[in-house]
Amino acid sequence: MMVKPVEELTQAEAAAELARLAAAIAGANAAYHTRDTPEMSDSDYDALKRRNAEIEGRFPGLKRSDSPSDQVGAPVAEGFGKVAHVIRMLSLENAFSEEDVADFEARVRSYLGHDGVLAFTAEPKIDGLSLSLRYENGVLVQAATRGDGETGENVTENARTIADIPQQIIGAPAVLEVRGEVYMSHADFAALNARASATGEKTFANPRNAAAGSLRQLDATITKTRPLRFFAYAWGALSSPLADSQFDAIQRLKSLGFQTNPLTRLCQGAPEMLEHYRSIEVQRATLGYDIDGVVYKVNDLALQRRLGFRSATPRWAIAHKFPAELAWTRLEAIDIQVGRTGALSPVARLSPVTVGGVVVSNATLHNEDYIAGRDAKGGVIREGKDIRIGDWVQVYRAGDVIPKINDVNLEKRPSDAVPFTFPTICPQCGSEAIREDGDAVRRCSGGMICPAQAVERLKHFVSRNAFDIEGLGAKQVEAFFHDPVLPVKTPAEIFTLQSRDAAQLAKLENRDGWGRASVKKLFAAIEAKRQIPLNRLIFALGIRHVGETSANLLATHYGSWAAFEAAMTAAQVGEGAEWADLTAIDGVGAVLATSLVTAFHQPAERAAMDALVAHLTVQEVKARAPVDSAVAGKTLVFTGTLEKMSRAEAKARAEALGAKVAGSVSAKTDLLIAGPGAGSKAKQAAALGIRIIDEDEWLALAGEA
Ligand code: IVH
Repeated sequence: MMVKPVEELTQAEAAAELARLAAAIAGANAAYHTRDTPEMSDSDYDALKRRNAEIEGRFPGLKRSDSPSDQVGAPVAEGFGKVAHVIRMLSLENAFSEEDVADFEARVRSYLGHDGVLAFTAEPKIDGLSLSLRYENGVLVQAATRGDGETGENVTENARTIADIPQQIIGAPAVLEVRGEVYMSHADFAALNARASATGEKTFANPRNAAAGSLRQLDATITKTRPLRFFAYAWGALSSPLADSQFDAIQRLKSLGFQTNPLTRLCQGAPEMLEHYRSIEVQRATLGYDIDGVVYKVNDLALQRRLGFRSATPRWAIAHKFPAELAWTRLEAIDIQVGRTGALSPVARLSPVTVGGVVVSNATLHNEDYIAGRDAKGGVIREGKDIRIGDWVQVYRAGDVIPKINDVNLEKRPSDAVPFTFPTICPQCGSEAIREDGDAVRRCSGGMICPAQAVERLKHFVSRNAFDIEGLGAKQVEAFFHDPVLPVKTPAEIFTLQSRDAAQLAKLENRDGWGRASVKKLFAAIEAKRQIPLNRLIFALGIRHVGETSANLLATHYGSWAAFEAAMTAAQVGEGAEWADLTAIDGVGAVLATSLVTAFHQPAERAAMDALVAHLTVQEVKARAPVDSAVAGKTLVFTGTLEKMSRAEAKARAEALGAKVAGSVSAKTDLLIAGPGAGSKAKQAAALGIRIIDEDEWLALAGEA
């Protein structure tokens, strides 16, 4: 039966379906809990509950008194279900100095064209993991981790075990998504680790890892034994606003029963923000939980709305990080790792040292220039001091970032230490390692014959934002790569694993770590990924410079694998219609395009791609529905002074309405918005017969008047 999308249901259909779902779920519950004879799979059950929650989300008024959403004690799911966030969970831009904060404030004011002092909230940045809690009619119906920001994991049952998270709230909007941070206090962390070591279990490196590991337990009864806490600091979907300002919205969450951070202050301008930052920094050591900075947010929610978002971060907030933590230790060795694109990366092997609560024994050394004391442009860094094996080096760690080497103590340099010679031969395959002009990185030229590149490509292929095959992570890929009986050397061979296994006497099932159930699950997971969206496939190919964002752009532009492949085959670097079409995609530059076209013309790479695609059904990607606005698809130019919004805001608004904003007038210009003082551009536009409007007309078009 075709299931109608929830957005298309009528009120009557929704009510009828909610009744059917309530009965079906109640029946399944009885079979599972009471009779111990389940009638449906866990995933089917989860799907019913999800559908029920989605319909209730759209029609809160139709929620039944016997709604399945209100019943706790759902069966433990195998793995977490996925939750698509209705409103994306974003991350924050970072500021590392007072200057960065002043710049942020200035940028916000200039964007808004605001002259006076602007109010911001300032509060600690909690070092935990973010969680989104959905309440419908005051009842907690879903909890989801951030995941990749678009889709998170359904951890509802686990969240229900956290004392700081209310199950029911009174006086809230019908739909309310509360967002905040799950964390563990220092005392609880120490006690948990003490218990773990007493029973010989694994201990956690820091409170954040402990919080993440505890929340993401498949068995919620384990989460229940872990002392997790929660601070609310933001929100997602809402059926009605919480307040007019950030500060009042947080107060409202507090009055609804959430824990909010007591160090949240309302500050007038950068000087007060920085004052509060310094005060929080002083209290940091005695708070009893980890924080890694201070978050500033524009207080007025109407202004937040105007400021809006960049691709992954809001323009109205910033995280002012505390300085990185430092420590000195000995550099024992420098190893060279070979990455997916052949890059030779030097890794420092260190005498283990604690940096900010974490034991560090490896750090990145970036590239050969960095070791030699030079930057990418040949300039001097560290006063030109090079890094040698045996040196005392300063290690630093800022938040999540991979530890780095900052400095060298020449006074402690052993007398026999010699400058490091960076290899010019790939340590993995012996091919020449070449450094091209203008590239900071030396690369192995072995391509597909280099085992290190091949393994890294496979790891990338199965990674979370690529094929994301459950049960086939980096560790398993590495093992399969070296397997003498069932080797997987290329992505295509993942899809022949099952048929090869069937033909073997020495079966996967009898191997170490592989039981009947795990083999069956692996094959099912691989089967499921024979259907793959085009954007994921393009990203998974691991072509240099093609990240997730560019893969999405390419997929929406070409739509299908057939069209994409035909265009790449026909394209020639730097010339012809296909090249022009490719480089005309907004966000695709010559470097990316060259890398892409070259990969498709490289015989071995091409053969590997063809072999892979033969096993797949590639799902087409539809271009996002065009924005329905008077300026969608048009090219706009702003000139003169705008009095009601800044240039930056006008540009962002125009782009949100589907228009392109250009800096100069040409035959391609559709519309010129001219404020007072407009000069040559207005003349040019008039000469070209382009329509010219003033700011008020623009505001009317943009729906602001
Ligand atoms: S606001 C749209 N406030 O930091 C912005 N985030 O680096 C929503 N975090 O993903 C986030 N404390 O997990 C905000 N007081 C705070 C925070 C905070 C910790 C985390 C959050 C976010 C990450 C961004």
